[in-house]
Amino acid sequence: MREKDDIICHCQEVTYQEILDAIDNGATTVEIIGDVTEAGITCGGCIEEIEEILEEELNK
Ligand code: FES
Repeated sequence: MREKDDIICHCQEVTYQEILDAIDNGATTVEIIGDVTEAGITCGGCIEEIEEILEEELNK
């Protein structure tokens, strides 16, 4: 299980909670999450995990 304060994007130090907040605020794609939180915009290594989180949240 992920913890709320787990860092998902290490380049930009974006936490799981920040990604969840972005999704709660209407983000529906990795691109929008990148615009809002800066997660995924540097090396891209976290994009797969962001996609997983999006899928989990949008399918709730
Ligand atoms: S770990 Fe997220 S952009 Fe590098």
